[in-house]
Amino acid sequence: MDKQAIKALIEAHPARTALDQAFYTDADIYERDVSQIYLKSWLYAGHISEIVNIGDWFLFELAGESVIIVRSSEDQVSALLNVCRHRGSRICLEKKGCARRLICRYHAWTYDLEGHLRGAAHMGEDFDKSGISLKKIHTEVLDGMIYVNFAEQPAPFEPVREGLTECLRPYRLENARVAHRQTYAIEANWKLSVENYTECYHCAPSHPEYSRGHSLAKPEARSAALMDEVMSRAQACGLSDKSVSRIYLDAEGFGADYAYERYPMWRGHVTGSEDGQPVAPLMGDIKGYDGGTTDFQVGPVSFALAYCDYVVIYRFTPVSLHQSECDISWLVNADAEAGKDYDKDRLVWLWDVTTAADKRIIEYNAEGVKSRYYEPGPLSKMEDYTWKYMSWYLQAIKP
Ligand code: FES
Ligand SMILES: [Fe+2]
Repeated sequence: MDKQAIKALIEAHPARTALDQAFYTDADIYERDVSQIYLKSWLYAGHISEIVNIGDWFLFELAGESVIIVRSSEDQVSALLNVCRHRGSRICLEKKGCARRLICRYHAWTYDLEGHLRGAAHMGEDFDKSGISLKKIHTEVLDGMIYVNFAEQPAPFEPVREGLTECLRPYRLENARVAHRQTYAIEANWKLSVENYTECYHCAPSHPEYSRGHSLAKPEARSAALMDEVMSRAQACGLSDKSVSRIYLDAEGFGADYAYERYPMWRGHVTGSEDGQPVAPLMGDIKGYDGGTTDFQVGPVSFALAYCDYVVIYRFTPVSLHQSECDISWLVNADAEAGKDYDKDRLVWLWDVTTAADKRIIEYNAEGVKSRYYEPGPLSKMEDYTWKYMSWYLQAIKP
């Protein structure tokens, strides 16, 4: 579909209506999604606890790109493009590792941990290695969470830091550790995965486990009294009760969105677990359970749920036009020991069953939107945020 046709389709899009089929099936639109959104936004790559020692690295992959996230010799976090400067081979082939040098297996060009070329055999006497380095993309670390941005001049990260630092402080995420990380492959265009995350209209029918404890599944039943009760306890527990939200469309801030919101869980539930009871020690400086939970967001496709005892970080990425990934990290205090302070299966249970269900419903959705008979339908009141997200998306890719 050419640019004019994409523009016309966007301009004709009716308000509060699901997206047209082309947004899920057209290869040119997909290319725009990647170039206009993914290659310009701050994206969650991982946590510093995954690269504790110098030379530790892991890969962050999306839409055919591969980035080596490595702790450099200068003890900094670097994000190096996994594309050899000789003839372009991938250099790191496993998902993670630890190395003093990054060696391309094709012809053995060797790079240091800053990405500078240090060794290249048979290149002749006058070959100058000094100007050759692996390409680097921007990184920022917010309380131990590593965010990357492919853009040459990304939107400044400072506003995100300023907006979230105070709210996130009590969790002390820089002192946390990834207790479990899992990637769920979803056979669906990435937007179907994100759209599903943006609404809780599907929670009651699709997530009985989640709906037992989380009031988002039934907001009309959430009383002002419950809200007040939890918010007053939040402060006593050292948690922030303020809500912040910045979603950008202007070029300056694009891709550096952030949001933080705390809200009550149903009475009797203090965290996201099978029985609503704690599954790990209180995080950071938090002094007790207030009966609430927090949603926060950095950039357009990286979300998190922060309970008093653990945090789950979600990131959605495209793999190809009809494939996406949902990557989830479960964080606990760094000194919490598996088997003693927490049971990994109990910790992971809720968001694993919930994501397995999400994968199923998203994949059925993907089959349906490809049908000859698919026609976009109207959105419900519980899909306000989905419409906000869709409107943002349509503006973001508009030629
Ligand atoms: S492609 Fe990497 S050394 Fe040749
Ligand atoms: Fe869901």
